[in-house]
Amino acid sequence: MDETEKSDLPEVIPTHIAIIMDGNGRWAKQRGLPRVEGHRQGAESVREIVRCAGEAGVSFLTLYAFSVENWKRPKAEVSTLMRLLARFLRDEIAELNDNNVRLQAIGRLTDLPDFVQKQLHESILATSRNTGLTLILALSYGGRVEIIEAVQSIIREVQLGHLDPAQIDERVFSAHLYTRYYPDPDLLIRTSGELRLSNFLLWQQSYTEIHVTRTLWPDFRKREFQAALNDYANRERRYGAV
Ligand code: FPP
Repeated sequence: MDETEKSDLPEVIPTHIAIIMDGNGRWAKQRGLPRVEGHRQGAESVREIVRCAGEAGVSFLTLYAFSVENWKRPKAEVSTLMRLLARFLRDEIAELNDNNVRLQAIGRLTDLPDFVQKQLHESILATSRNTGLTLILALSYGGRVEIIEAVQSIIREVQLGHLDPAQIDERVFSAHLYTRYYPDPDLLIRTSGELRLSNFLLWQQSYTEIHVTRTLWPDFRKREFQAALNDYANRERRYGAV
């Protein structure tokens, strides 16, 4: 990003942005194309937004790429999404390294087909030394199942005598979530106009600012991203205080 573009950025930049990338199917339908074409264009938006987030100085970007509920979609759509994902993971390694982006993933990763798991681990390893933006892909992710797994893990620690139930507080609970290494999102962006959380980072987004745009994900590019940053910069965050 050159100096003029940098000066277009607001002073306050969120540390962590989470995005619900919605509207790929509608984008395709509006053009008389198969739904998978929307996902293909959506992958282009992912590329652009990862670049923009890094350039803006965002530290963490979490993208809701595949939910636990998405397994219920038609088999052909699921397998196209898996192939798109694996291709993205393979083809983007060089670009992620050029831009100092570290890749991570959260969710029930063992649910993913072997070829995706293998590529995912390879790409995570190949970018693990990068120190700029951390890109976190939420894959086979569900907020409720994440909370249940955290409860199970806490119970195991209590049963083993490693944890006293009286010690369980918000910090201890957060440390059992998939997101234990990351701060809570400051800003949630949702495309395509729906006003729902859709089981995304339920615990973590208690105080997150929400920006909803009617733009469909395949059309969500740099200008839209900058608009979301400007919207965030104008929010007053009080965390329940006055
Ligand atoms: C929601 O649109 C989008 C998804 C379920 C998948 C998101 C996937 C991508 C953006 C592409 C691949 C991802 C990466 C990381 C390369 P929808 O299908 O629910 O749209 P609709 O609500 O209009 O039907």
